[in-house]
Amino acid sequence: PVASVLEVGGVKIGREDVVRDDPTNNVPDTVFSKLGMQLHRRDQHPIGILKNAIYEYFDTSYSNKFDKFDNLCPIVTVKQNFDDVLVPADHVSRSYNDTYYVDSQTVLRCHTSAHQAELLRNGHTHFLVTGDVYRRDSIDSTHYPVFHQMEGVRVFSPADWEISGVDATSYVAEDLKKCLEGLARHLFGSVEMRWIDTYFPFTNPSFELEIYFQEKWLEVLGCGVTEQEILKRSGKMDNVAWAFGLGLERLAMVLFDIPDIRLFWSTDERFTSQFSDGELGVKFKPFSKYPPCYKDISFWISEAFTENNLCEIVRGVAGDLAEEVQLIDNFTNKKGMTSHCYRIAYRSMERSLTDEEINELQWNVRNQVESKLKVVLR
Ligand code: PHE
Repeated sequence: PVASVLEVGGVKIGREDVVRDDPTNNVPDTVFSKLGMQLHRRDQHPIGILKNAIYEYFDTSYSNKFDKFDNLCPIVTVKQNFDDVLVPADHVSRSYNDTYYVDSQTVLRCHTSAHQAELLRNGHTHFLVTGDVYRRDSIDSTHYPVFHQMEGVRVFSPADWEISGVDATSYVAEDLKKCLEGLARHLFGSVEMRWIDTYFPFTNPSFELEIYFQEKWLEVLGCGVTEQEILKRSGKMDNVAWAFGLGLERLAMVLFDIPDIRLFWSTDERFTSQFSDGELGVKFKPFSKYPPCYKDISFWISEAFTENNLCEIVRGVAGDLAEEVQLIDNFTNKKGMTSHCYRIAYRSMERSLTDEEINELQWNVRNQVESKLKVVLR
């Protein structure tokens, strides 16, 4: 049972009123109950240890300290999360399939960029925002509906770029890349990295930084030169700025060798006791891995079917016992009906599961898939 009133970032939220009374609400209990957990504010937790190590980099690299925020309420308005950072009205990230809505005007922030505009308006010119963010998504070892981001913003004045002889945008983009390459070295030592051009509604140009780790290129952050419109709206006509947003779980999985994102939520002391304040990059020693159990489910989909909706049901029934949901078969018959087969992996990080328990979970999943997703089980 979860408390009926939560206090998050100084804001009190009546759980019943917020979650249950609005038909546009798509926040399940499993997600709502994560509000206020604040893994990023625990100095002994990998996410908190990483946050502190990044703080240390910014404190030692800049004489002018960045303002730090790690307690801003994750329940924000649609305006804060999307409009204020210029996300187009028809952008997929606004859909009920991708974002958790508390009501039609209120969401669980899907990125820490939700706080950029307000902090700029309040006169902050260089700041870091760390917090829990929420996204409806698939289920596997690197995806969880709640994760943590750190946002960084730095505003420049004409005096900064004028002596450099290059235009403001190039100057700021160059500074941004140097800052983040320095951060990657601070965290990882020497690593191979590369920049990829990309698109975000709130920056232009926009980049992603990838680092080479365990034989793969891993995307660790998005960033770019802030759209002038955002600065203009906050009264900063003559300035240029950069912004970045990095995924703390992604970085922490690599730094601490944590194989599954669910472990960050574990209260098992075989996990929690392995980390301590200030110790970045201590390698996690897995306690014996219990075997996964696989169950397949096949059904004829309807037009409204989405994988995110299926995953929400699986998480609702199995919670953190759900390790992976994978589409293993997909075909359309002569009548134009499409069938999907998903393989669900159930596994506990902490104990072995009984057949009975898993059969019960799968039975519940099947019932809910049939009743809520308007599909026909095969
Ligand atoms: N908000 C972006 C995301 O969540 C990351 C980002 C932040 C990109 C700031 C550019 C600037 O993917």
